[in-house]
Amino acid sequence: MANEREKENAAIAAIEFVEDGMTIGLGTGSTAKYFVENLAEEIADGLMVRGVPTSEETRRLAESLGVPLVPIEHVDRIHLTVDGADEVDGHAQLIKGGGAALLREKIIANASDLMIVIADPSKQVEMLGQFPLPVEVTPFGYTITAKKVYDALKAAGVAKPRIDVRNGPGNKPIITDGGNYILDCHCSVIPDAPRAAFELASVPGVVEHGLFIGLARTVIIGQDDGASVFE
Ligand code: 5RP
Repeated sequence: MANEREKENAAIAAIEFVEDGMTIGLGTGSTAKYFVENLAEEIADGLMVRGVPTSEETRRLAESLGVPLVPIEHVDRIHLTVDGADEVDGHAQLIKGGGAALLREKIIANASDLMIVIADPSKQVEMLGQFPLPVEVTPFGYTITAKKVYDALKAAGVAKPRIDVRNGPGNKPIITDGGNYILDCHCSVIPDAPRAAFELASVPGVVEHGLFIGLARTVIIGQDDGASVFE
């Protein structure tokens, strides 16, 4: 079970990477929230940075704390992105999207000079796949897309994928910030994550998937009394 101290200590350690003048991608979720809160304190003390939020939730949080924001369309460089993860393996491969923000998270991570993952120890895994892999799909044809996602995961060596549409209030599919649905793919293990990423990316109707391969270069794992930084 994650404890809040571990999450916050990971976020505090990530603040060390922030420098004056940076444009910073602001992640989504309960761990990233600690980063935004700590960043807001530094800004109040005179740090000059601006943020690019990875979700409407993070945009609202950052605005409420006085973090200056810039629309991604007005940015030509993102120096650093700090975000959480649902799972991280020993090669800094991630599953993300538990908060349904994976599309903007991946666009921003991919556009960043450096992506830092902040997490508590419960997120560390030997092999990805225990956490259901989120796949963002267009509402149009989503039942057909779900079948093709199943085939793609099988082709990537996942033994028995089970795919659920993520529902929200009223048992209706949740709608992402991009206006799409989320399929949660229960895999147990994903034996070859780069292959799964490749197969999923080739399915029409898949807008993005939650496998982040080769994007994170630094992983910070929080502990009760500090944090470990892996680079
Ligand atoms: C949102 C995400 C989050 O970073 C991920 O779900 C981890 O969240 P938390 O820090 O609350 O465990 O990918 O889409």
